[in-house]
Amino acid sequence: MKRKIIGGKIVLILSFVSIILLFTGFTVKMISVQEDLKSRYSYKDFESAKKCRSCHPGIYEQWSQAMMSQAYTHHWDEIEYFDLAVPHAAAKPDLKEPVDGCNGCHTPLGFMAGKQFPPPRPSEKSMANESVSCEVCHLTQSAQTDPPFNFSYLIKPGMTKFALRTPAVESPAHKIVTNDFFSTTEFCGNCHNEKNPFGVWVKSTQLEWKEGPYAKENVKCQDCHMPKGGPYLNALMTKPYNDSRLHLFHGAHDPGKVRGTIELRIEPDIREAEPGENIVFSVALFNQKTGHKFPTGSVEDRIAWLLVEATDAKGNKYHLNVDKKGFEGEEYTISGDYLAYQDMSVPLGQPDFKGVQRDGIPAGNRIFRMPYFDPEGRMTIMQWNTAKLGPDYRIGPRETKVEKFTFRLPYNTAPGEMKVTATLNYQLLVKPVADYLKVPEDESEIKLVNQHSTFVQVLP
Ligand code: HEC
Ligand code: HEC
Ligand code: HEC
Ligand code: HEC
Ligand code: HEC
Repeated sequence: MKRKIIGGKIVLILSFVSIILLFTGFTVKMISVQEDLKSRYSYKDFESAKKCRSCHPGIYEQWSQAMMSQAYTHHWDEIEYFDLAVPHAAAKPDLKEPVDGCNGCHTPLGFMAGKQFPPPRPSEKSMANESVSCEVCHLTQSAQTDPPFNFSYLIKPGMTKFALRTPAVESPAHKIVTNDFFSTTEFCGNCHNEKNPFGVWVKSTQLEWKEGPYAKENVKCQDCHMPKGGPYLNALMTKPYNDSRLHLFHGAHDPGKVRGTIELRIEPDIREAEPGENIVFSVALFNQKTGHKFPTGSVEDRIAWLLVEATDAKGNKYHLNVDKKGFEGEEYTISGDYLAYQDMSVPLGQPDFKGVQRDGIPAGNRIFRMPYFDPEGRMTIMQWNTAKLGPDYRIGPRETKVEKFTFRLPYNTAPGEMKVTATLNYQLLVKPVADYLKVPEDESEIKLVNQHSTFVQVLP
């Protein structure tokens, strides 16, 4: 009720302002008040994805293997929401609104239909478990903000579903209306851009795309994550299409999507050297595959790191440390022995919590990441508690970064051929955090992105 009155006042003021502007000859941009969808509807207003399955079985099976269908139920989502975010909001009431907002993207039906927050746990099998379901996307009409962010979708439940084909196809179960919004990246940006209570962009995949090369070439999110393929049967009772949008939504949880994203080449500055001499290895890392930065999205959790190792003719192994470049905040991009994430002490209810290891990988490796800092300047994985972002040392779309490794051959290096291998690894969640919070192993397992080797001769 209160909200409505405030909304009404804003509309009044805005129309008053527009009239003045009109009189003074200014052109006025349409200003609309954003509709608040929280608790606006009830679950019975929405159809279950299981119903869509009865006629769209193929698309259902694709979707059910993607993270989209598990955004509310996946183990790490459940742990972070229920064990960190919800208790944090209980300790700091200012956080209640943004933490309720997690559901706006992770379970839009739970957000729009739930009357109490948090919604039921995944084990209670409520409709909130449908996560980002068919209905969520196919009832979306537009984005309410420009740029789109923080579940800015406009959704109205009902039997009218939106899609892209013109003229619209016919279905016995529902009405279909063509909506060009489905061909835009703003459609995805409604959930793939996020601004937190500090006004920090803690997720900006669509914004990264927009300033990158793929936007200029009109290669969109859908082209890489929902490729066109066929012949494919969209619905049981129709003919197959050769250009069906496949609902793969494969991303960071698909090792095959991550593999090869960055191409690596390593070369030495000289091919022969004696023990005690320096060889400088250069590694070029070319982002060939992503339409946004790598990593993107949950950047607070993710790391990609470059490991360079040499093996001499006798099989002895040496680890090479990356050369410093000297930019501000570089220490956050080279692995080392630091404690971080102390801000978890509040939600965990452990005032003495000293933090856990920041990186959890061998020291001296280059890390491609962007650190998030809490209000006290400590690194955090709690994006809602992020007051500042650190140096953005991720690899942009089609960007190439070059790293150098100066290696002084140890005096006991065996003469003969030495193999030097550069490996780029990726982890969804830094391992010390995953282990501390008991997040199942698959979230912190090491995924190979790419590898390349070169050879040098060690002289006797
Ligand atoms: C009784 C069967 C049936 C059910 C149930 C059903 N659909 Fe459909 N749907 C169809 C048919 C048939 C088409 C037309 C396919 C064609 O001709 O390409 C269609 C088309 C569509 C399209 C348009 C595709 C395009 O190419 O433009 C969308 C979107 C869609 N359905 C979404 C849904 C959603 C979401 C649900 C669940 C809430 C659902 N459908 C449930 C039968 C069904
Ligand atoms: C994250 C959003 C999202 C979800 C979830 C989603 N869709 Fe779609 N769907 C789209 C977009 C975007 C298109 C593409 C429109 C286009 O380019 O033709 C599409 C296209 C379709 C089409 C037409 C495919 C074609 O190209 O001919 C059908 C049918 C469809 N969806 C049904 C479903 C069903 C059934 C589900 C649930 C099992 C579902 N969708 C889940 C976003 C979504
Ligand atoms: C040119 C192809 C391409 C385009 C365009 C593209 N992506 Fe990606 N995307 C990828 C690849 C490859 C990966 C896997 C590597 C990775 O995790 O970043 C990926 C990963 C992702 C991930 C998981 C990232 C992570 O590290 O957790 C998300 C989320 C995502 N994309 C969303 C989007 C959205 C939203 C858009 C449009 C604004 C988009 N993508 C455009 C290729 C693309
Ligand atoms: C209603 C909100 C919403 C919309 C709209 C949406 N997404 Fe997502 N998407 C999510 C959430 C939430 C996740 C995180 C799932 C998780 O890991 O818990 C996600 C995850 C992903 C991933 C990562 C999958 C992985 O393997 O890590 C990709 C890729 C992706 N979305 C692509 C898209 C594309 C492409 C579009 C537009 C066609 C889109 N999304 C629209 C909410 C949305
Ligand atoms: C604006 C939409 C939005 C909001 C609000 C949001 N998320 Fe997300 N969340 C996403 C998207 C999109 C991804 C997937 C990004 C990627 O794949 O890298 C994601 C990923 C995650 C992941 C990582 C999942 C994985 O398996 O790697 C966790 C955990 C998570 N969110 C928890 C939360 C919590 C807790 C909140 C509230 C404090 C929240 N999210 C608020 C959109 C949102």
